[in-house]
Amino acid sequence: MDFPARLALSVPLIQAPMAGTSTPVLAAAVSNAGALGSIAVGTLTPDAARRDIAALRAATGRPFNVNLFVHEPCTPDPQREAAWLEALRPVFAAFEAQPPGELETIYPTLIGNREMLAALVDAAPPVVSFHFGLPEREAMAALKAAGCLLLATATSLAEAHLARDAGIDAVVAQGWEAGGHRGLFDPSAPDGKLGTLALTRLLAAHSGLPVIAAGGIMDGQGIRAALDLGAVAAQLGTAFIACPESSADEAYRAALASEAAWHTTMTEAISGRPARCLANRFTAFAATPGLPPVAPYPRAYHAGKALNAAARTQGETGFGAQWAGQGAPLSRPLPAAELVALLAGELADQRA
Ligand SMILES: Cc1cc2nc3c(=O)[nH]c(=O)nc-3n(C[C@H](O)[C@H](O)[C@H](O)COP(=O)(O)O)c2cc1C
Repeated sequence: MDFPARLALSVPLIQAPMAGTSTPVLAAAVSNAGALGSIAVGTLTPDAARRDIAALRAATGRPFNVNLFVHEPCTPDPQREAAWLEALRPVFAAFEAQPPGELETIYPTLIGNREMLAALVDAAPPVVSFHFGLPEREAMAALKAAGCLLLATATSLAEAHLARDAGIDAVVAQGWEAGGHRGLFDPSAPDGKLGTLALTRLLAAHSGLPVIAAGGIMDGQGIRAALDLGAVAAQLGTAFIACPESSADEAYRAALASEAAWHTTMTEAISGRPARCLANRFTAFAATPGLPPVAPYPRAYHAGKALNAAARTQGETGFGAQWAGQGAPLSRPLPAAELVALLAGELADQRA
């Protein structure tokens, strides 16, 4: 399958779905500029997902991608969660606040989520992508029958083979450099931490699927390198955070434009799953020796969000989830259409 041709992309580029940061306006601007815009609905209710997909469809006549979290349903672990909340208590206290009494499963998974599946099948987005795993066979069949092209993130060849065997159309090779949550299917299994270069090449050679490279790609030169490795397209997330159309707040934008962009780190402390972000006060706290295990995803995120909210009441923004990849210092704060045009120009220059 010629992936860019099937989607009529003039630039072999996908704007990464970014829960909490990508917006229908951003995705539409990217799609209208000839690449593939994406929204993430993994943190939304089915009604909110329907609304965002409708807003995106109204703003572009071109293909777009809708992304979901597909983690194993979370089993609450009261003892572990209580210990984690106790560990956070002094940090909350510094902001005259207390941790939540009990954690909640604040984000759903697509697995077993009939309402979300119905919303997707009704909306039939041209592309649907999965992060953290794969949905049930019936869900995949329903989305395919609705005409959706299906993508899944893989961080290893084993995950790519699971995706291929399940009928996924193309795989997103997410390297260790990437911003945001690692797409590991099983975060408790050993992580090979493959970088984008090695993973893209391995999957291009051995997965049997078209490969979309993701992680640390910030400019046309990076896209070219991904294509040279055998990828059919590149997926860029961090590069789009600073676009005015994203919903990144001022503190996030300022951090990205500062020296802080040079220091990203992988942490489980914020959400309960490994994710790459700008190092901040939360990640410094997470390095405290002797901390108990972090509560499971997404229940730890309930505490993380509460801590960020408490800190912000005192003007402290160092506890926010400022996801970013290792290429962050190469970020360019441009309107999305201009950024896509610039990326396309750089890619063409490289080709010449
Ligand atoms: C702010 C942010 C939020 C993200 N949220 C999601 C998400 O909701 N779903 C998803 O599949 N990937 C998400 N990702 C990961 C991207 O899909 C992609 O793997 C990553 O952005 C590529 O690395 P880069 O950020 O260095 O370009 C997110 C990345 C960032 C930076």
